[in-house]
Amino acid sequence: MNRRLAAGAAVVGTAAALVLSGCGADEEEAPSGAGTIGVAMPTETSERWISDGQTLAAGLEEAGYDVDLRYAGDDTAGFKQADQVQAMIDGGAELLIIAAVDGAGLGDQLKAAAAQDIPVIAYDRLLLESDGVDHYVTFDNYAVGVAQATSLLQGIGVVDDDGEPTGDEGPYNIELFAGSLDDNNAHMFWEGAMDTLAPYLEDGVVKVPSGQTEIVAAETWRWSKDLAQDRMESLLAQFYADGTELDGVLSPYDGVSRGAITALALDGLGPKIADGMPVVTGQDAEAASVKLIREKMQYSTVFKDTRLLADAAVAAALAYLEGGEPEVNDTETYDNGVKMVPTYLLGVSTVNRGDIDEVLVDSGYYTDDEITVG
Ligand code: GAL
Repeated sequence: MNRRLAAGAAVVGTAAALVLSGCGADEEEAPSGAGTIGVAMPTETSERWISDGQTLAAGLEEAGYDVDLRYAGDDTAGFKQADQVQAMIDGGAELLIIAAVDGAGLGDQLKAAAAQDIPVIAYDRLLLESDGVDHYVTFDNYAVGVAQATSLLQGIGVVDDDGEPTGDEGPYNIELFAGSLDDNNAHMFWEGAMDTLAPYLEDGVVKVPSGQTEIVAAETWRWSKDLAQDRMESLLAQFYADGTELDGVLSPYDGVSRGAITALALDGLGPKIADGMPVVTGQDAEAASVKLIREKMQYSTVFKDTRLLADAAVAAALAYLEGGEPEVNDTETYDNGVKMVPTYLLGVSTVNRGDIDEVLVDSGYYTDDEITVG
């Protein structure tokens, strides 16, 4: 029978439990009821994808579908996600919802899906270099980058609450981190952030002492916390050992932020922003980072309400399954290299320390306990 999810935890039926629990994640689930929807998620190392998968499964099951939910462990070398998606197709999935590990890595599977008229919805991450993607649900990814850079500039005092220059001419030292370059979102975040920082970099109000201002140098492969920590440590050793102060770190994702913060804390720069911790941005409002924001270790995060994203994906799926077309509000931004993918975009918001209760707790995204330290 259908899975039911309660209080953010998976309460599962037997067949589905194999898939959701991660044990036996490659096993197939027998289709029943209205049919089976394949949901391919990239990794369970990030809190958000776990809750995305759960919310999607709950919504689709509510509508009477069985869900074949699989996590790919961020693996590309072993083609795990490609194998999982192929298994979903072979197992008779009526529709696929995919958050890719490698945006361009599923070409053969998307071709097979198209040949069988299986609609494919790209979830948060654009599926690249294929015409086998029908629809894309995501957040305004360029706006995420703008929000991150604006928050960084606010944190160091160069712009005010409205994003207007305060007249403070600095100079302030910052370092820049990007996401995984096989994820189209990493490029969009970077573009939004760099466009926002550009005038301040040109005027010398903010400087990047490492000189690493190209996305390739700033990449964090697979959005890895550990790689971010390594890079931050080596930046500190190479460019800050002489006492040069670091005022801010542009981070595109909370896991990367936590890696950078770990390196900064170990470096003894001080455990609190007020005591000298650089301003560190983030994204996803992961509980571990919201705690750090409460502790004044991380400055901000960009919140994307993944409940709304999952709802949008479920609505799009049902539109296809009922013979219609999903709602689209952007047809100009997301060229995947082969086609302009019709997109449904959601908005984002920046969460600073003072916004946590209103935006994250009052809205029911977290209970206070889940983001309380200790
Ligand atoms: C991106 C996504 C971000 C973050 C990151 C790492 O694709 O847009 O919100 O989750 O992956 O998981």
